Amino acid sequence: MNTSSAQVVICGTDTDVGKTIVSALFVQGLGATYWKPVQSGTENGGDRQRVIDLLQLPKEKWRKEAYAFSAAVSPHWAAEQDGQCIDPDQLKLPTVDGPLVVETAGGLMVPLTRNWIQIQQLERWRLPVVLVARSGLGTLNHTLLSLEALRRRTIHCLGLVINGPHHPDNALTLKQLGDVAVLCELPPLEHLNAAALATQWHVQNVKAKVETEIIRFQASR
Ligand SMILES: Nc1ncnc2c1ncn2[C@@H]1O[C@H](COP(=O)(O)OP(=O)(O)OP(=O)(O)O)[C@@H](O)[C@H]1O
Ligand SMILES: [Mg+2]
Repeated sequence: MNTSSAQVVICGTDTDVGKTIVSALFVQGLGATYWKPVQSGTENGGDRQRVIDLLQLPKEKWRKEAYAFSAAVSPHWAAEQDGQCIDPDQLKLPTVDGPLVVETAGGLMVPLTRNWIQIQQLERWRLPVVLVARSGLGTLNHTLLSLEALRRRTIHCLGLVINGPHHPDNALTLKQLGDVAVLCELPPLEHLNAAALATQWHVQNVKAKVETEIIRFQASR
C-alpha cells in the first residue's frame, strides 16, 4: 500500500474533535473515496453531505452509509431508537479504485451495539488509523489513553492530526510520550473550504509524512 492505494480510518479522541474536517483534508489530499459507515444524526444531512459540500465531491468519490440514524446520540442507542441494530457483517469495507478514507463515529470506545464497540470494528478492518486530537487542555489524557487502547489491540496508528489553536507544548509532549508522528497541526480555519484545506495539506507536507508512516506500517506487518 502506498498513498495511491492507501486505506485509512479517521478516528477521534472524542466526538466533535474534527474527524469530518480531517477526513475532507485527506480525501482531497489523497484523491480518496469517502465513507462514513455509521452516521448518527441525519438532521443536517450528516457528515457525508458536509464532505460533499466542502469539496464538491463527485458521486464516484463517496459511498453511502451502511447505517444512518436520525438521533444524534451514540450509534447503539440511535439504532435502537430507529428500531434497528447494527450488524458488524454489514460494515465490510467497500471496494474502491484508489485510496479510501473511512470516518468513524465518535471515539474509539463508542458502542455500535450493546456488545460491539468501535475499536472492535477497527480490529476487524485491520486498517491503519489517523487519530484526530484536540490541541488544547485535556488532549494529553484523551490522546494518550486512545493510543494505549489502539496499541493494546495492535491497531497501527499512522499518526496524529492535532486540531485547533496552536498550543506551545502539547504536540511535542504527545509525540514524545505517545511515541507517535504528528502528521498535521490543523489551525482553526476562518474560511473553511477546499482551498484552505489544500493549503494546509501542502504547507505542512502531509502527504510525505503519510507516505513515510505507511512504509513504517507495512514494515511492521
Ligand atoms: N480546523 C477547523 N477550523 C474551523 N472549524 C473547524 C475545524 N475543525 C473542526 N471545525 C468545526 O468544528 C465542528 C466539529 O468538527 P467535525 O464535524 O469535523 O467533528 P467530528 O469529530 O467529525 O464530529 P462527529 O463526532 O459528530 O463526527 C464542525 O462545525 C467543524 O466545521
Ligand atoms: Mg464527523
